[in-house]
This record gives sequence, C-alpha cells and structure tokens, in this order.
Amino acid sequence: MKDRIEQILGEIEGLKCATAAEIEEARVRLLGKKGEITALFDEFRSVAPEQKREFGQKLNQLKTAAAAKIEALKAQATALADKAASGNLDLSRPGDDYPLGSRHPVSIVREEIVEIFRKFGYDVAEGPEIEDDYHVFTALNFPPEHPAREMQDTFFVTDNQKENPILLRTHTSCVQVRCMETMPLPIRVICPGRVFRNEAISARAHCIFHQVEGLYIDEHVTFADMKQAILLFAREMFGPETQIRMRPSYFPFTEPSAEVDVSCNICHGKGCNVCKGTGWLEILGCGMVDPNVLEASGIDSTKYSGFAFGMGIERIAMLKWQVKDLRHYFENDLRFLSEFESNI
Ligand code: PHE
Repeated sequence: MKDRIEQILGEIEGLKCATAAEIEEARVRLLGKKGEITALFDEFRSVAPEQKREFGQKLNQLKTAAAAKIEALKAQATALADKAASGNLDLSRPGDDYPLGSRHPVSIVREEIVEIFRKFGYDVAEGPEIEDDYHVFTALNFPPEHPAREMQDTFFVTDNQKENPILLRTHTSCVQVRCMETMPLPIRVICPGRVFRNEAISARAHCIFHQVEGLYIDEHVTFADMKQAILLFAREMFGPETQIRMRPSYFPFTEPSAEVDVSCNICHGKGCNVCKGTGWLEILGCGMVDPNVLEASGIDSTKYSGFAFGMGIERIAMLKWQVKDLRHYFENDLRFLSEFESNI
C-alpha cells in the first residue's frame, strides 16, 4: 500500500492537463467515487491497527496533494483561456450602440409655443428666478393682503415681514414688468421660464413648474385683438379645427380677465375622460392689462393699452401626450423621457 501511495504521489506531481475536460478526467480517476485514492481509503480499513496511524497520515497527505494539484491545474487553465480570449480581438464586429438622447417634453412644448409666437412677431424675454416682491406682486397690482403673498404660496428667500423681500418668482409676469420698465413701446414679448409655488407635490400639483406668459402693449389694443391672438395660437398648437371659449375670471393685474378653454382635441367636443365629459380643456389665463400695472411701470394708460396671457407648459404637455401624472416631468426616468421625440 505504501508503494502505491508513493506511486500516485509521483504521478500527481508530474500530472499535466491542457483542457478542462482532461482535468476533470484526472479528478475522477484519482478522487472520484471509484477513483484510485478512494479505493486506497477502502483498503485502509483492513490495515493492521499498529500501522493505521502511519498509513492514515500518508493517505490524508495524498488526498490533499491530489485536490491541491487539481485546483492549481484549473486556475492555470482559466488564466490561459483568458489570455487567449484577449488576443482574439475581432475588429470586424459591429460596435455597441450609443443611445441617442431625446429632448425633455417640457422643452419640446416650450419651443413649440415660442415658435408660434415668434411667427406672430413676439420677442422672447427671460428674467431672474430669484426676484423681489415688487416685481412679482406690487408692480402687478397685488393688494398688500393678497393671499398669494403669504407663505403658503410663495417661497421667501428673505424675511417676508420686511419691506420688499426677496423670493422665488411664482409666475413669469415679473419678467413682463421688467420689459415694461426697460423696453421701448410698442411691446410684444413672451416670457418662458421656471416658477415656484409652495404646494404639496401630487399628480396634479408641483412646487416647480414652467410657464409661458405673453404681453402686448400698443395704442388701441383691444380685447378682440387678444381673443384673435389666442385663437390663432390655439389652432397652431392643437390643430386648425380647434375652437376656444372664454370664461370670466380674476387676476389682480388684468381687467377684465378671462380663463380660456380649447375644444378637446381628443373627442372633438363629444366628451371623453381627458376633458371629463365637458368637451373643453382649460389652457390659459388672460386679460387686458390693468391701467394700474401700466402706470406702475411708467406707461401712460390713457394712451396705451395691452393684453397679457399666461399658461403652464406642463399642463399643455399633459394634454398633448395625455400624461396623467405631473410628477413624471420632474423625475427624469429615462423610460419616460425616451418616449418623446421631436424635430425641434
Ligand atoms: N400670471 C398668471 C398665473 O401665474 C397667469 C396670467 C398671466 C393671467 C397674464 C392673466 C394674464 O397664473
């Protein structure tokens, strides 16, 4: 038995296997159920008791040596295979695709709105997102006790008890104020931008959203001019069949004021779940600029008149693509964003 152990030990030392299959074959031959070393363990049972200690140790050494050799051979084989693979660069294989990004739906709609008004001859103006109370409220004829000035709507940057606090703009009408202060008349301008309101985030409201507001000031501007501009815009945006209707409304900076609905472009007025069975979708607020607002910015309200309007970009995007939950626009989930394609 001793000789046999020595013999196998020698064999193990000289063992050479090139492939995984050969290694497995050697493992089965030595250590498998019917393997040579396993057979020696069977034989060991009949060894005389006084020799058991010596042979036991030898057998265990043999088993360990065999297992170690097999492991070493396996490691060698994998290393060789890796090396071979890295030398196998196939330069004729087609490359990996780089996914093409898409524009954010809010940007797509903003550009569409801006393009429509650019065709009507409007300039585009932008202003600061961090504004003062004067440009966001006071110059727009908000009375001091107006609820929009309170903490529940406005994010204040400085103490709102002090005079003219700094805040995050709640609408882009403040950009229009800056236009009235600086631009020569007549003024025809639209102001796209991000606005902030202290609202709980839900499917229908968010503390950040985007607006496009417009302003037109000249001599003899009338409500009929406003109605026509909005009708043309609605038809460009939602299709040539689109109808509009106006409902009386209230804004501190316009008088009279109106809320504009467009005929539902999904059911064409028949009533569906997007327009909640009414056939109409609310898209913007508008009105004739209040003379107080003109005067606050140094415009002679006896000579000039104007109209203003404002709409939420996300709201129009929701109608356009029938997205039910506003939060999608802010979470930047690529599965959502990649749904949108545009040629703008
Ligand atoms: N500024 C208003 C808003 O944020 C929208 C508006 C603009 C309404 C101009 C009338 C005229 O809701």
